[in-house]
Amino acid sequence: MNSRSSDEMALRRLPEMPLRDGITRWTSDDLNALYRRAMNEKNPSITALQEAVFATIDILGARSKIAQGINAPLTSVSKMRENREYRVYLLTERSLGIGILKVGTKKLFVTHPKTRSLVEIEPKCVLDFYISEQVQRLGMGKKLFEGMLEMENLSGSPEMLAIDRPSDKFLNFMRRHYGLEEYTPEVNKFVVYRPYFAYTVVDERGRIKYTKPPSQATPKPASSETGVSHSAPAPAPRKAGGPGRNFLADKMRANGYQKEDAELFMDQNEDMVRYLK
Ligand code: ACO
Repeated sequence: MNSRSSDEMALRRLPEMPLRDGITRWTSDDLNALYRRAMNEKNPSITALQEAVFATIDILGARSKIAQGINAPLTSVSKMRENREYRVYLLTERSLGIGILKVGTKKLFVTHPKTRSLVEIEPKCVLDFYISEQVQRLGMGKKLFEGMLEMENLSGSPEMLAIDRPSDKFLNFMRRHYGLEEYTPEVNKFVVYRPYFAYTVVDERGRIKYTKPPSQATPKPASSETGVSHSAPAPAPRKAGGPGRNFLADKMRANGYQKEDAELFMDQNEDMVRYLK
């Protein structure tokens, strides 16, 4: 999907989601199986579910791309096919998909805070996270994140996740909800919070060893005894009246779209306004 067509995807209206409210998890195998059932069974309710889930993932992925100011969506149904291990968590509220969170495991070289040497780790990583603008700062992100932690067997251990190029909003989110803020800036731009290393040592061959299984390690208060650390920026002041309704439209104008395009977007985006009523 090129940038223009993904922006057009972002303009589309979110479909009614024939799913109960809450969090659902989707892998590429799940999406393929749903697609095959829709094709083979010709059952209208399965077809409606398939179309709604596919469209919602593509639309929210395209809106996330605009919100983060990046060149291409990180999440789409076709992107999911690139890696069978990726999981997309979808938050549905009042029959609308309002947020996505994509997780996958990656091999990373990062700085161990005690030895300052590079060690190879293989953490689960948050690769994309987005809540619809109109309902940000209402606890929806926390709800989706907590649901993901539970389904990833990481409840109570958010520090065991690495985050790919977190935005300032996401850094604030991690500090606000989990007290996580200290990390060593890495060339690969992944953030691994210092408490990740709490129960680790580096052996004589330079390999990291876990003295407690990673999923059982509990968060520890961040310590600044060793090494360089980096803290999340101070949170932006909360705007009166909640998140700006014109946020995406403004970004689109900044990206060279005409006023009419941006206004069309706002019309299409009425689904969110309906949600808020
Ligand atoms: N400015 C500063 N901090 C913010 C903002 C903001 N505009 N929005 C959310 N936060 C942080 C704050 O810590 C806030 O707490 P506060 O309101 O007490 O200050 C906290 O998040 C709110 O928590 P929730 O309501 O549970 O989270 P929300 O529903 O807003 O979802 C998310 C958080 C997903 C980061 C959302 O703001 C979003 O979609 N932002 C745009 C896209 C983005 O930046 N995604 C992360 C990209 S990086 C990656 O995906 C790996």
